[in-house]
Amino acid sequence: MSVVHVPVDTLLTESPRTLIGAGRAAAVAKEAETVSQSASRPLRVLLVVGAGFSRRPWHTAVVGALRPARLHVAVQPGMPTPASVARLAGEARDHRADVVVAVGGGSVLDGAKAAAALSYEPADPTCASVAGACDEPAPATGLPVVAVPTTPGTGAEATPFATIWDVDRGRKLSLRGGSVLPSVAILDPDLLLGLPGTRFACSLLDTFAQALEGAWSTRADDRAEALGAAAWARLSRFLDRPYRSAEAPDASERRAALLAGHYAGRAIAVAGTTVCHALSYPLTLRHGLDHGHACGVTLGRVLRYNAAVEDGDCADARGAARVRAAIARVTDAAGAGDAPTLARRIESFLASSGLPPVPDLRPDAARVAAEALSYDRAGNNPRRLSIESLTRLLTTTAP
Ligand SMILES: [Fe+2]
Repeated sequence: MSVVHVPVDTLLTESPRTLIGAGRAAAVAKEAETVSQSASRPLRVLLVVGAGFSRRPWHTAVVGALRPARLHVAVQPGMPTPASVARLAGEARDHRADVVVAVGGGSVLDGAKAAAALSYEPADPTCASVAGACDEPAPATGLPVVAVPTTPGTGAEATPFATIWDVDRGRKLSLRGGSVLPSVAILDPDLLLGLPGTRFACSLLDTFAQALEGAWSTRADDRAEALGAAAWARLSRFLDRPYRSAEAPDASERRAALLAGHYAGRAIAVAGTTVCHALSYPLTLRHGLDHGHACGVTLGRVLRYNAAVEDGDCADARGAARVRAAIARVTDAAGAGDAPTLARRIESFLASSGLPPVPDLRPDAARVAAEALSYDRAGNNPRRLSIESLTRLLTTTAP
């Protein structure tokens, strides 16, 4: 089966402005200055990082690159919550930031994006106002964001939405709107250096899911399908041999993973995610699985399920043939031949990833299914679902 490579420049023409290549993080101050609306100098920058920032080998170089600016460093530890987003937005306001620079994984980027979008609100953001903002479109204007991912896979640098976890209520919230989309994405493969192997595996699993879901979604268009296929053309190499989390990815693998994650992020920015992501939220909130891991554990089963769609159970108004063609486009790009083969290879990757074993989901399957169906993205799935069919899918072991 031939491997499709869609040219990069035809898929990266829309916002955010995207810089790709080793060493490109050195341009972060210039990019921040360009997107800032402020003429004041020195530029006032809120730098949002994760808890592990200072352990990464490149962290002093990134801070050094921003030194001409008046810098305030804020930490987004773990998953963004209404409280952490309110705190970050408050820090942006107190610092009178002109621009937010987010350097980290998906949680850091999402926390920073949400805080930037809410930092122009008339009153200081609170937990309640952040959670309330997720019920409506995000404010039209916010601080510009320069997003610098340090894990591959989340695509958060390319999406106009930010995931916020309301752990107390057991719900995943989403802040959505044009102001949540970063202005610039800097994809520097050198920033993946020092990433633990199991974190890399989780990021890849998130990308596997987002690239497939972006292509088969009922909201997918040709562009989303092409982006999903372009991502998988770069992901197939990770399925070609058993994944070893102890082996650091080389420069070429780091670039492929980062670019695939970005393509997949752009695909879901167009088409949204579907039932794998809807299932992942209760798996994270109730069973403690990392986001990518939570997406990966059901992806093979959902791929087989969706590939067997017929017109009688198709949720896409364009018909089952369109869904099967979108899946075939991705499996061709992955060099897998057909959907069951790709599903099996994804499951082999998961089994060799070094990630902890998945808890037995069977006793909780009906509840996980019901919670998943309560998220609107489950409605993007191209094959119809019910609590019964989803429970069956969760309790069926791979063939
Ligand atoms: Fe995801």
